[in-house]
Amino acid sequence: MKTTDEGLDALVARAAALAQPGGRRLLGIVGPPGSGKSTLADALAAGVAAQGHDVVVVPMDGFHLAQTELERLGRAGRKGAPDTFDAAGFVALLRRIAKPGPDVVYAPAFDRALEEPIAGAIPVTPDAQLVMVEGNYLLLDEPPWADARPMLDEAWYVRLDAAVRVERLIARHRRFGRGEREAREFVLGSDERNAELVAASAERADLIVNVGTW
Ligand SMILES: Nc1ncnc2c1ncn2[C@@H]1O[C@H](COP(=O)(O)OP(=O)(O)O)[C@@H](O)[C@H]1O
Ligand SMILES: [Mg+2]
Repeated sequence: MKTTDEGLDALVARAAALAQPGGRRLLGIVGPPGSGKSTLADALAAGVAAQGHDVVVVPMDGFHLAQTELERLGRAGRKGAPDTFDAAGFVALLRRIAKPGPDVVYAPAFDRALEEPIAGAIPVTPDAQLVMVEGNYLLLDEPPWADARPMLDEAWYVRLDAAVRVERLIARHRRFGRGEREAREFVLGSDERNAELVAASAERADLIVNVGTW
């Protein structure tokens, strides 16, 4: 397994090398909650776009089930676990994205302030060369998630020191309205179980990216 400590510029160069005129490539950015996937994917996309490529970020978080549905299912207490997402819907979207046709494919976003997915938020145009797919469970080996990995041309696993990751995650929960104690309990309980699951899937990545150095 290849590991890199490269900074953002070198990672942008790697991602840009995947983008081909007239082609469609999918780059998966995976990692445990709070590792910095979304931040890294956005920074990479900005860098790749600055080199003139057509790039878009599609977050797996857009496939969070709605809060009402989580409550109906009795799963609201572990929001973020694999069975709190529309995993089959996510895989179906990847299928559409992997084989571009004439239509714009709309991906959903996740609104952290509302804690709800927003349909139709992210246009993936037919000429998008690089689609960065980022999320926790792209490398899980169980159905229906397991169908995602073969569609990714490359998958990077974002690794960050666990203590830093946990503190960043608590800070993020607090920023979006949870109290200190509630945030800590959620991060050390539900989020940590999910983090272990994600870490166990790292072996299916092509590259381990150590972040925290930039
Ligand atoms: N390189 C970084 N330096 C400092 N803080 C960061 C960095 N990357 C991410 N963060 C912060 O850490 C938290 C988690 O990052 P995020 O990208 O949301 O992680 P993920 O998408 O993996 O859950 C966010 O609040 C973000 O602002
Ligand atoms: Mg994220």
